[in-house]
Amino acid sequence: MIVATAALSWVPTCMAFGKETFTDRKEEKRWYTKQLRAFLGELDRSVSDRLAGPADQKLQAAFESLAERQQVIRQKLNQYFRKDFDQAWEKYRKVWAQTAKQPATPERDQALYSGFQQLRDTTYRLFQVKTTPSQNPERAVGALVYRRHCAACHGRQGDGQGVLARNSHMPMVPAPTDFQSLNALGVRNAFSYYNTLLAGIEDSTMPAFASTLSNHELWSVAFYLFTPPFRPQGSDALEPQNLTELKLDLSWLSIQSDRDIRHQWRNQSQQVEPGLDWLRRQGSFSSKIPREY
Ligand code: HEC
Repeated sequence: MIVATAALSWVPTCMAFGKETFTDRKEEKRWYTKQLRAFLGELDRSVSDRLAGPADQKLQAAFESLAERQQVIRQKLNQYFRKDFDQAWEKYRKVWAQTAKQPATPERDQALYSGFQQLRDTTYRLFQVKTTPSQNPERAVGALVYRRHCAACHGRQGDGQGVLARNSHMPMVPAPTDFQSLNALGVRNAFSYYNTLLAGIEDSTMPAFASTLSNHELWSVAFYLFTPPFRPQGSDALEPQNLTELKLDLSWLSIQSDRDIRHQWRNQSQQVEPGLDWLRRQGSFSSKIPREY
């Protein structure tokens, strides 16, 4: 959910792309919110596509679409915020272009990821994106929603091999996301899944669920996608010793990827992998983790 605040200026602006006239402010705001959601989704996919495979023309085209979307949403920022946003964008654009020519190494991937992370977090902040669920997600709700609304395409095990994806005489293009491989990259956070569920994905069969499912159902299934069998199972899940010291809360957890958490915990000499497993399996669904700090 996007909250309009002083950071956003809803004065009519000259639009370079897409729609140019709106009947009222409400319509204009809805349209920009849609652009912002699409931008965040494309941004997420730009980093994992790059991490997962070599650069090709399709990736380049997808990045150009991201760049256009960026042009649209930045117009909603006042000058001061726009400078922040442009800086983060420029940094990511550069590192993305550089990494296209480099072979995959841990250093290259880290440079790409931190450029992405900075742009993602800057966008959340400057556009005041509401990234926290208003109630604790429930595992049972997530499981039920997944079985009913997602498994046919994404597969019961989340491997992208649902009956619709496998059996159709015409293969689904693009194919439904394989969450097992995606989660192995460790770059998504729960908000990112929630955002995609609200918006759907243009030019694909991935529907928008904003009018079919409640907010609670959307958040529950978004968190559920991080639990086995959707993510690789590591060690035995082990509750982190000091929940309070770690400042765990749902507003924090909703915007952390596995990569972010590993990075933060490494410095605190936590038992990183068992703790992360616990957090994904039970943490987000347990009342031990407060909603907000
Ligand atoms: C009719 C088929 C279909 C259904 C039903 C469907 N999806 Fe998808 N979904 C897709 C396709 C296809 C893609 C990949 C689109 C792309 O790569 O551009 C996708 C992509 C996604 C993504 C984006 C992953 C990423 O890159 O971040 C998420 C999240 C997702 N689906 C979740 C769900 C959930 C949860 C449900 C059920 C509530 C669901 N989908 C139902 C077809 C479907």
